[in-house]
Amino acid sequence: MLDKKKVVLAYSGGLDTSVATMWLKEQGYEVITMTADVGQQVDLEAAKQKALKSGASKAYVMDLKQEFVKEFVWPALKANAMYQGTYPLNSALSRPLIAKVMAMVAKKENAGAVAHGCTGKGQDQVRIEVCTNALNPELDVLAPVRDWHFSREAEMEYAQAHDIPVMATTASPYSIDENIWGRSIECGILEDPWNEPPADAYTLTVDPWNAPDHQEFVEITFEKGIPVALNGEAMDGPSLIQTLNEQAGKHGVGRIDMVEDRLVGFKSREVYECPAAMTLIAAHKALETLTLDKKVLASKKELEVKYAELTYEGYWYSPLKEAIDSFVDTTQEYVNGVVKVRFYKGQAVVRGMKSPNSIYQQNLATYSEGDAFDHAAAVGFIKIWGLPVKTWKQVHKDKMPVEIFC
Ligand code: ARG
Repeated sequence: MLDKKKVVLAYSGGLDTSVATMWLKEQGYEVITMTADVGQQVDLEAAKQKALKSGASKAYVMDLKQEFVKEFVWPALKANAMYQGTYPLNSALSRPLIAKVMAMVAKKENAGAVAHGCTGKGQDQVRIEVCTNALNPELDVLAPVRDWHFSREAEMEYAQAHDIPVMATTASPYSIDENIWGRSIECGILEDPWNEPPADAYTLTVDPWNAPDHQEFVEITFEKGIPVALNGEAMDGPSLIQTLNEQAGKHGVGRIDMVEDRLVGFKSREVYECPAAMTLIAAHKALETLTLDKKVLASKKELEVKYAELTYEGYWYSPLKEAIDSFVDTTQEYVNGVVKVRFYKGQAVVRGMKSPNSIYQQNLATYSEGDAFDHAAAVGFIKIWGLPVKTWKQVHKDKMPVEIFC
């Protein structure tokens, strides 16, 4: 029998989840926290201590960086997943992993519930709950922050009264979510789309205006659609992304400022900084143009839109998303090669690429010596290619401009 009074809480170390820990404890729950290390800039040991101080009976801190990259980021990269063509889903991708790990910890601890610190307005609540229900429907999902209706002030007072340390970062004017694939910045002054995001909204990128006046190059090696080396040096996923975040961020690459259509029905102004993600997606897309068949590319593009929507909407564990993964994996078999990218003043631009599986054939494309294209075949091709249009216009002559009748 699962212990329904034992709950595993996804714990960030921030004010909301610390207050939630204490609040759940006061409701009679034993609270076990789970802090997911997905590459965010946070002092994990301090978070652990804070969880215990906030009333947790046990505090897990789990290094999920490798798994996050391998099972979530790379599949999304292979699918060039960008919600509304713009947002590389950095936040959305971490939720199905967090849900999965919470369910695992719940199993280990025999806990009958999991909990998260999302509000009732966001989509992270939808993702975590839909994923949890899919993975283990026996688990109750609690959402204390959604339930308690505290104002910010009341929350601070509650924290002070219960001796929960309120860190200086609580004063941040934004709502931040961060992992190795990028950083999401919302709320405060950003809520008015007329307002330019202030400089203090960003921590991973410089303003392109202030970026270095010189260009810098990186060569990214892909194997089966996955980046495996930078400038010829093999790296594991998290290190490769981290290195690119730094290099591209220094050149102001990866800033995104958009009005996004939320799953929960309203439009929202969102700011992101995703230097490595934007670089890798650009490079990967380019390599696909060199290695994939025209019709495969076209169909893949349609499925990429669907893939991004499913990820955004919390349908990571859905059969359609898994079926698209299979399609994408088939296409990636030959997405091998090296892409040369130039960073300069906020742009990551592909400047060269090569592949052992290239289907770009220079002897077909060339206008110079060595041309292997069958020029004579063009005559018959054009006759038949144009036949339906010619037939249509001959039948509907009356619709033609009079001047061209002969
Ligand atoms: N709008 C993005 C999304 O829904 C970002 C979410 C950021 N989450 C946060 N708790 N601040 O995917």
